[in-house]
Amino acid sequence: MVDISVNLSKLKLRNPTMLASGIVGISGKLLLRVANEGAGALVTKSIGPEPRNGYGNPCLIEVFKNTYLNAMGLPNPGAKFFSKELKIAKKGGVPVIASVFGANPSEFAHVASEMEKAGADAVELNVSCPHAEIAIIGQSCELVGETVKEVKKAVKIPTFIKLNPNVTDITEIAEEAEKAGADAITAINTIRAMTIDIDTCKPVLSNRIGGLSGEALRPIAVRCVYEIYEHVRIPIIAVGGILQWSHAIEHILAGATAVQIGTGLVNGFQIFQEISGGIEKYLAEKGYKSIKEIVGIAHQEGGN
Ligand SMILES: Cc1cc2nc3c(=O)[nH]c(=O)nc-3n(C[C@H](O)[C@H](O)[C@H](O)COP(=O)(O)O)c2cc1C
Repeated sequence: MVDISVNLSKLKLRNPTMLASGIVGISGKLLLRVANEGAGALVTKSIGPEPRNGYGNPCLIEVFKNTYLNAMGLPNPGAKFFSKELKIAKKGGVPVIASVFGANPSEFAHVASEMEKAGADAVELNVSCPHAEIAIIGQSCELVGETVKEVKKAVKIPTFIKLNPNVTDITEIAEEAEKAGADAITAINTIRAMTIDIDTCKPVLSNRIGGLSGEALRPIAVRCVYEIYEHVRIPIIAVGGILQWSHAIEHILAGATAVQIGTGLVNGFQIFQEISGGIEKYLAEKGYKSIKEIVGIAHQEGGN
């Protein structure tokens, strides 16, 4: 028997797979379905203080196989309404992590507190959406520190922070988040990108610039996880381009304790079970007893 359960601060996950924020995470029933399909934890769509419409279409396009460009504009029903959906998601029996955002540290703290009241097991601070105003928070050590501190004062549940890869040095921001009291780091959000239609001669997305996710993001995400691992002691949750179990292993070897799946859902909800099963088989074949034994071992001199 191989143990693939993991601990993220106070949370215990039956396996390391988590639903990434923004992917089917706005409906309680869909979140419940993801739990029933085998995910170890659920992250909700990013929720703000008030309802928000987001950008017009086109807001999501496939740029090449398994790689997408999106600029949704953080559409969400607001904290008050979403509390009802979160309660439904909780019936899945796995930890539910509320992704939250706000215009400033006190709005983040307010939404986090509302989500805690609704039953969230942890919050994930989205300071990193590359095509919304909040990107600026995730690009500043000072604002990241202030936001984490303010949220930590407002809630007792663990506080995770999702980092913006659109920075010169992601490790500085990760260190600041840890210093301010973050309980885990999620890395990474999408990379700023765009595409132009050569017939209309205009950018394809209504917002012109969006965030790249999926296959093309994976090597960048693995690099970020690897670098962050050398600078912090809190757990890292990897997200970026995980479409099959071997991609998850790559992130774990780089230093991730758990992995989130976003774009990978295009190939079906069974991905959580496939990835957990693949990880279990890999560990058994290599003679490991627990997933914890391989976290970060790509950093060891001379490999394994
Ligand atoms: C359509 C779409 C919507 C997203 N919405 C959010 C969001 O609301 N909050 C957030 O933190 N990340 C959001 N993301 C980013 C994902 O959670 C994830 O960080 C990113 O897509 C990289 O992972 P992937 O390659 O597995 O998709 C969104 C991504 C996509 C494709």
